[in-house]
Amino acid sequence: MPGQPRETIEPDRQRAYWDALAPVYAAITRIREDDFHFGPQIPGDRELRILPDLPPGATALELGCGGGQNSVFLAASRGLRCTALDVSEAQLSRARARAAAAGAAVEFLRSPIEGFEAAVGPDRRFDLVHSSHALEFVEDPAAAVRAMARAAAPGGWVMVSTVHPLFNGQWIEGEFEDEDGRDAGDAGAGLFLPNYFSPPDDVRDDAFGHAVSRAWPVSAWFGWFRDAGLSVERLAEPAATADAPYTSDDWADHGGQLDRIPSTIVLLGRKPAGA
Ligand SMILES: C[S@@+](CC[C@H](N)C(=O)[O-])C[C@H]1O[C@@H](n2cnc3c(N)ncnc32)[C@H](O)[C@@H]1O
Repeated sequence: MPGQPRETIEPDRQRAYWDALAPVYAAITRIREDDFHFGPQIPGDRELRILPDLPPGATALELGCGGGQNSVFLAASRGLRCTALDVSEAQLSRARARAAAAGAAVEFLRSPIEGFEAAVGPDRRFDLVHSSHALEFVEDPAAAVRAMARAAAPGGWVMVSTVHPLFNGQWIEGEFEDEDGRDAGDAGAGLFLPNYFSPPDDVRDDAFGHAVSRAWPVSAWFGWFRDAGLSVERLAEPAATADAPYTSDDWADHGGQLDRIPSTIVLLGRKPAGA
């Protein structure tokens, strides 16, 4: 894919970063457990209706579960038998506490997404394999989608939400003028994206360490699902809403931008019943 050479994303550096960030992330992020969330500032499943309709007792595997809200929701509100993994023990300890408080029986595993089958058990199959805003932190998301497809039962579902490629552009305000040379105001604010096919990494070098969030073109995600043998049943680019199940003060500050460009892409794929 054309574009600047990019660093290799290392799971160990992500782990160290999320272990350090976990307490702060939990303090500043508000994620509700009464809805399934797909990402910051966007509607949950109550409005989007992307989550497949699975009967109580069906099985689900979540990759990069963070504080575990989605698996707790699926276990407590839908009666699914949930397994959830994350590379960060600090994130998992919060998830375990949340599940215990909700009386939700979730099996938690510490593992990177890369090679997760070894931790989960290579022969286990799930009715739903899902991941929300974690695959932007792996070096090879195509391989992750293939592994998710393998872990799905025949007729089962693979659902991914991740950063939208437009979101890794740079929001520019007050730079544009109308035809008469006047400041174009809000209408003049917009996005600068130097390369859609290889969007710039969102590199975080801060008090918590070093982490990279990488975005990919929408067509790349579509192709990876298809190449993994999945039919793409839904593809969504939701706009922001005032009533998001996942928010923080920082995310809310993006406000107007996220009415105009999507921050998240959501894909739902299905494995053929005979596969
Ligand atoms: C933005 S949080 C999202 C958490 C959760 N999915 C949610 O939506 O609330 C990203 C999570 O991915 C985890 N993560 C990052 N890289 C990972 C990797 N290579 N393998 C497993 N988990 C990873 C982090 O520890 C963190 O908990």
